[in-house]
Amino acid sequence: MAEPFDTPAAYDAAIAQVRQAAAAYYGGPDLAMDDADYDALMARIAATEAGRPDWKPEDSPTEVVAAGGGVAGDVVHSEPMLSLDNVFDADTLHRWAARLERLLGRPAAGFTVEPKIDGLAIAARYEEGRLVQVATRGDGRAGEDVTGQARRAAGLPERLTEPVTIEVRGEVFMTEGDFEVANGMRTAAGEPPFAHPRSAAAGTLRAQDRTYDAPLSFLAYGVQGLGDGPHSAAMATLAALGVASTAGMPVCAGIEEILAAVEALRAGRGTLGYGIDGAVIKADQPADRDLAGSSSRAPRWGIAYKFPADTRTTRLKAIEVQVGRTGVITPVAVLEPVQISGVIVTSATLHNFDDLVRRNVRPGDTVFVRRAGDVIPEITGAKLDERPAGSVPFEPPARCPRCDGEIDRTQKRWRCTRGRACGAHEALLYYAARDSMDIEGLGGKLVDTVVAAGLVTDPADLYDLDAATLAGFERMGEVSAAKLVAAIQSSKSQPLSRVLTGLGVRMTGRSMSRRLARHFGAIDALLAATVADLQEVEGVGPERAVTIAAELAELRPVIERLAERGVNMAEPDFQPRPSAPAGSLPLPLRKEDGSPMTVVVTGSVPGLTRNEGNEAVERLGGKSSGSVSKKTDLVVVGEGAGSKADKAVELGVRVMAAEEFAALLRSV
Ligand code: IVH
Repeated sequence: MAEPFDTPAAYDAAIAQVRQAAAAYYGGPDLAMDDADYDALMARIAATEAGRPDWKPEDSPTEVVAAGGGVAGDVVHSEPMLSLDNVFDADTLHRWAARLERLLGRPAAGFTVEPKIDGLAIAARYEEGRLVQVATRGDGRAGEDVTGQARRAAGLPERLTEPVTIEVRGEVFMTEGDFEVANGMRTAAGEPPFAHPRSAAAGTLRAQDRTYDAPLSFLAYGVQGLGDGPHSAAMATLAALGVASTAGMPVCAGIEEILAAVEALRAGRGTLGYGIDGAVIKADQPADRDLAGSSSRAPRWGIAYKFPADTRTTRLKAIEVQVGRTGVITPVAVLEPVQISGVIVTSATLHNFDDLVRRNVRPGDTVFVRRAGDVIPEITGAKLDERPAGSVPFEPPARCPRCDGEIDRTQKRWRCTRGRACGAHEALLYYAARDSMDIEGLGGKLVDTVVAAGLVTDPADLYDLDAATLAGFERMGEVSAAKLVAAIQSSKSQPLSRVLTGLGVRMTGRSMSRRLARHFGAIDALLAATVADLQEVEGVGPERAVTIAAELAELRPVIERLAERGVNMAEPDFQPRPSAPAGSLPLPLRKEDGSPMTVVVTGSVPGLTRNEGNEAVERLGGKSSGSVSKKTDLVVVGEGAGSKADKAVELGVRVMAAEEFAALLRSV
């Protein structure tokens, strides 16, 4: 439960803040507050009202749609456009479902699970198959007419395939592709790019005299006038009429299936091509919806399960300039740490210097940081209204910050004109150092000589040096040349951990290199590791895993050249992971062949949340699944288990009581 405010003044101030943020949210082009902060503030307002209902004004943002922030406009909606209540975890979703069941006096007959599109709600009226009017949600009762701009939205056709009269409700948004095109148009027109796809969609939808037409997309999630069938069928009909809709969404029988569908949406979030901020769960049958009804703000038959926000705001402490292995020079943002989808982010990419200037970002600014899936977080823009007085634009470097050489600015990605040779001196000395490959006799002067002669630019080139060539250099006799070549060649048998140390993978040092090498055993396994695989290594969190994966991808060509020259790429101390380690207890949820059992947990296991139940399955060596089929090996049945337990019995799948499962967990 969120912490209530303890004075009426603090409570009123929070309401004012929420209203202002909501106005900016719907008005574009900037966001006043990021979603996570907004939701947290709303939760505190609701918690305060629960204890002090006497403080609550009639138009509290917890009661009214859009927190009073939408521009009301003069198009009155045929029925109010409501909002949705939010849940953030499985337990609260369980409570919502239990409440709905109480309201209905029986379980609901099926739920749809749809993406919660991160855009703007609109109502579109079709008369005899023609699009006649589009309005924003506004204050929920009446909205603004945006027919002109909305007509351009892909998925909202001018004409339907049948001459029906209906009202379609859904979300106008920008896909990732739309957003890129929109920002290209905007910067070409001399305006700073939009910071966020939603504010871009808001700005575009309400734009009046623009010299360019940024692309928009539409997806319907509701319709009136198509009869009284289930929601899933109405969405399919809408799709057949030519409107992009949520048709094809899963229809789930109960909470376990809902949670599996929500999880599937969350897992696929990065691959949709547009931003979603959660899943929307709705009773599919009109009879259930009618019976459950709505409050003044939101229906009781539907709920939004919000995902952690992928965009947040934080302060940009500084901009550093990094020179990569190939001489590419990039600005990197140093951030006040901020948590984004469960990860603490401390730095982000700014792509290139043109981009930095275009995005009009300065040290000291409050910036939008986006982290989508397994990519390095990026800065998408600054909140210009919060720019500190006296801030100055960032001055890009005039010369290479590493070697003071000239900078080639002919491409978007600036590069030191010395290319790979720019950082070669440091990289080679690091490679040869005692704690890395331990190549005796390869000192700074000699490195300078071979680099200047163009013989060596990366560690793999060292192995091509021969004694005759080296002996030709100043202060290098035949004997010392032969000794050095021998030292270089014998370094080939060093363990993989030292090769990794020598390559200087960012965010790793000696001990992390050893851990990586021991965990994966050989370079092929390490290069094939996903970000999730990397996180299995002790001390590797999500941010480090992303960097290591990106570094290894960049180093792959050098690694391949080292391997071609016979450098060892295996770790003698390899400790295979305990799939079934000899001598230790076998994992209880493994099959005889060592592969994981497919396990479904239904109902509650004492002492565990649903997610912990699934984690426990994995800890015991199994693979958790959301639905029971012939392929299921085991069903754990706890209190409140429903149709899945019946199905397990029907299919003859092994069933285990939750208490037995809990005991099993205690035994390992
Ligand atoms: S149903 C009466 N379905 O989320 C229920 N809304 O936070 C109306 N949204 O106002 C909403 N995707 O703007 C519904 N699949 C979806 C949605 C969705 C996005 C938006 C919509 C709504 C807001 C509530």
